[in-house]
Amino acid sequence: MSDATSLKRKAAEAAFAELEEGMNIGIGTGSTAEAFVRVLSEHVAAGFAITGVATSERTEALCRELGVSTKTLDELPILDVTVDGADEVDHDLRLIKGGGGALLREKIVAFSSARMIVIADSSKKVQTLGAFPLPIEVNGFGLTSTFMAIRRLTETLGLEGEIVLRKSGDKPFITDGGHLILDASFGRIPDPEALSAALATIPGIVEHGLFLNLASMAILAGPDGIEMLNA
Ligand code: A5P
Repeated sequence: MSDATSLKRKAAEAAFAELEEGMNIGIGTGSTAEAFVRVLSEHVAAGFAITGVATSERTEALCRELGVSTKTLDELPILDVTVDGADEVDHDLRLIKGGGGALLREKIVAFSSARMIVIADSSKKVQTLGAFPLPIEVNGFGLTSTFMAIRRLTETLGLEGEIVLRKSGDKPFITDGGHLILDASFGRIPDPEALSAALATIPGIVEHGLFLNLASMAILAGPDGIEMLNA
């Protein structure tokens, strides 16, 4: 197991320790969330009862393959906790998510949960969000107009940098919801709340990858052990 893989597994094991039998949980997307599904499946195989709501088709397929029982969010609209990865975490538990393209369902599921536990290796902890390009999920209708509105609005906040349409091979990347993603490389986002509020005014934006006031705990696994951040 590589160092990175073993750190993800350690974070996943620590998140499992926060669960109780019988809970209904949101299950995130990405390589760290996949490590969590693997840990979970080992406990399920040993008789631990839990029901998950997956945040992507990819996670749903992995849960099915590994024997973790799932339901839809409409069947379980209120969840005890969601466990998910992140692309960046700051000291106030503000996150950038969506590197894997699942940000919309991830945000809906996290919002439907009493708690959100973020699991990551310690390299994801940052002083200021923004080195990781911010994913912005947009409707395909009026893409150029939406792109220009994002550019205009973000410039008024002093944010500059490349904004590119995410590709999968030579075709646009399509999310589980059938939308497109623009990745905005701002470098630094000194005021994530202001940016989030500004993006919410653009009708073509379906959702963006700033997760503010959602995470209640971050479990960060590093070479020297586990660091827990609490809201
Ligand atoms: C998926 O859309 C993302 O929000 C992931 O949670 C995030 O990209 C972290 O992924 P890794 O665990 O693979 O780094």
